[in-house]
Amino acid sequence: MNDHNNALIHLEDITKVFLTDEVETHALGGIHFDVRQGEYVSISGPSGCGKSTLLSILGLLDTASSGTYTLNGTSVQNLSAADRARVRNQEIGFIFQAFNLIGDLTVFENVELPLTYREGIGRAERKQRVIEALERVGMAHRLQHYPAQLSGGQQQRVAVARALVGKPAILLADEPTGNLDSRNGEAVMALLDELHRAGSTICMVTHDPRYAEFAQRKIHLFDGRVVDEETLDRLRREEEQRIEQQIAARKPAAADA
Ligand SMILES: Nc1ncnc2c1ncn2[C@@H]1O[C@H](COP(=O)(O)OP(=O)(O)OP(=O)(O)O)[C@@H](O)[C@H]1O
Ligand SMILES: [Mg+2]
Repeated sequence: MNDHNNALIHLEDITKVFLTDEVETHALGGIHFDVRQGEYVSISGPSGCGKSTLLSILGLLDTASSGTYTLNGTSVQNLSAADRARVRNQEIGFIFQAFNLIGDLTVFENVELPLTYREGIGRAERKQRVIEALERVGMAHRLQHYPAQLSGGQQQRVAVARALVGKPAILLADEPTGNLDSRNGEAVMALLDELHRAGSTICMVTHDPRYAEFAQRKIHLFDGRVVDEETLDRLRREEEQRIEQQIAARKPAAADA
């Protein structure tokens, strides 16, 4: 068995091109990348470099333009929409920056929702699993509250419970602390850290270098490609130099004016 067969996620040469009004946006330009069972990986990089696009493809919310994606041993790039939804429901737990809870469902109902799409899980088992998931995030005392009656940090904890309840193979989080103050942000990071220690596989997009430190492995994206830390530093320096040169080139013109 070769190496990538052991990976939970295996991406080979994934590209993504968005076509809008005759404009082509090359969001991802050939991503190769593996995530192993039990790993905690952070993805960072400048705004627009393709982080959310990559996470949406990983989470089967979007499809790649080319390349191959193997998730938990199954090739998933050519699935029908219905099969994709089923695999997503079973294998993926998604945590969004804006929490994305449903406003007219209670905490209990929000967390229960992903299980209602599964066959073979009866009402009693659903209830038990929902309460278990909410206990793990410290929110079992708010079962009948609605999202609007919770603080941002509490809403995100409920969203983490919703992501966990189906016992997914991997948790994907896109800027999970982006809408939180630092105290609540740190609480959510501590929660993800705890889940990782208990065995969860996590892939998290973050802008914040302090939060990226929680991960075992840090992936850097630049212009739709994975780059190592040295390359990232060089690209950053080159960009700074370009900006300095542009400013320097403008100076004489400014003096003339
Ligand atoms: N639906 C879409 N249609 C057209 N272009 C898109 C679409 N979604 C993303 N893009 C483009 O793809 C590129 C990558 O976007 P993406 O949202 O992945 O960036 P990001 O790294 O998550 O940025 P941020 O840190 O600001 O969230 C951007 O240039 C963006 O404009
Ligand atoms: Mg983004």
